[in-house]
Amino acid sequence: MPAPISRRILMQGSTGAAALSALPIAAQGAADQNGVRTLIRLHLNENPHGPSDRAKQAMRAALDDGWAYDNEDALALRRVIAAKEGLKPENIFICEGSTELLKVAALLYAGNGKDMVAGLPTFLAMPQYASRNGGQVKWANLDAAHRLDLNAMEALVGSATGAVYICNPNNPTGTVVDSGRLRSFVESVSKRALVVVDEAYIDLADDPDRTTMVDQVKLGRNVLISRTFSKIHGLAGLRVGYGLGRPDVIRRLEEMRVSVPNRMGLKAAMASYQDSEFLDYSRSMVRGCVTYTCEFLKSMQLPYIPTEANFVMFDTGGSSVDFALALRAKSIYVQPMTEPFNTWARVSMGRLEHMEAFAVAARAHFKKS
Ligand SMILES: Cc1ncc(COP(=O)(O)O)c(C=O)c1O
Repeated sequence: MPAPISRRILMQGSTGAAALSALPIAAQGAADQNGVRTLIRLHLNENPHGPSDRAKQAMRAALDDGWAYDNEDALALRRVIAAKEGLKPENIFICEGSTELLKVAALLYAGNGKDMVAGLPTFLAMPQYASRNGGQVKWANLDAAHRLDLNAMEALVGSATGAVYICNPNNPTGTVVDSGRLRSFVESVSKRALVVVDEAYIDLADDPDRTTMVDQVKLGRNVLISRTFSKIHGLAGLRVGYGLGRPDVIRRLEEMRVSVPNRMGLKAAMASYQDSEFLDYSRSMVRGCVTYTCEFLKSMQLPYIPTEANFVMFDTGGSSVDFALALRAKSIYVQPMTEPFNTWARVSMGRLEHMEAFAVAARAHFKKS
C-alpha cells in the first residue's frame, strides 16, 4: 500500500513531474511480487504504447556508439524534418526536449524587463521561465468554449511584449483554436512580437494539416513552432524536441542553447519520425481511450472539455486535490488543476486497461463522497 501523500507535495509543479519525483520511492506505487512498481501514470501525457519497435531497434543498434557526443545525427534529423515540412535545415532547431526551446525562447524574448502574453490555463514552461528571469506574464482567460481567447490575447500585446505563447492543442484543456483566426492573429501579432506556437500534441489533432502554423514559417513570419518526440512518439525520457522558425530566430536559439541532444535519443527520434504505422496506431489507441473516458465521464454526469489531445480535463465537482489523492492511494496518478479550475482534473490517456482502472477508482471515490 503506498504511503499517504500530502496535499502540498501533490500540488508541486505544474505538470506533476516535480510532484512525482518529490515522493519517496516507497510511495510511488504498489509493487508486484517481483518488486516491480505498478504505477498507472495518467498525469504526464505520455504514450503508454511507445516507443515504436523501430525506435527501440535504433536504440539497440546504437548501444556500441550511442554514448559518444553527437556530431551528425542532429544534422541528419534537421534535414529529414526540413524535407518533410518543405523547409530548409536552417529553419530547424533540434533540442533536448521542447522544454529547452521554450525556456531559451523565454530567456531571449520575454525575460529581463520584457513581457509575454499567455492563456490561462496553459502549459507553464515558457511563462514560468520568463517570470523567473525578470519578465512579466500577461494572462488572458479562456473563452466560453475553453479555447485560448485570441482576441483577448491580442489586446494584451504592448510595446514591451517580446513573445506570445499559443499552445495548440492547449494543455491542459485539449482545445484547438480556429485555424483561420490563428493565421490572421499570427500575421498581425508577429509584426510586434515573436509568436511561439507549441504543437506538442499536433499529431493528435483532428486535422493536423490545417491546425499547424508551418505555412506561417514558410511565409517568413516571426513565428516559432515547438514540437516534441515526448508525446505521440513515446520518447519522453530521451529528451528530443525541435523547433521550426526563421533562420535568424533559429540562430539566436542555437547561440543560447543549454546543451546538445543525446545520440541515442536522436537515433530513436529519427526512426520514430519515419514510422507512420506506429504513429497511426498510437493515434487510434488514444482516440479509443478518449471515447471510452468521455463516455465514462458522461455516465457520471461530470462536465468535461472535448479534446484534440491525449488527455481530458473534467470537473470533479469538489476538490480535485482530494480526488487525485484518492486515486493516488490506488497507484493511479492524475493531475489536479489550480485556480480558477481547482475543481477540475486532467487525466492522460493510458492503455485501455488503465482507463478502466481509472473509471473503477473514480466511481468508488464519487460513491463515497
Ligand atoms: C504543451 C507542452 N509543450 C511542451 C511539453 C514539454 O515536453 P518535452 O520537454 O518533453 O518535449 C509538454 C509536456 O508535457 C507539453 O504538454
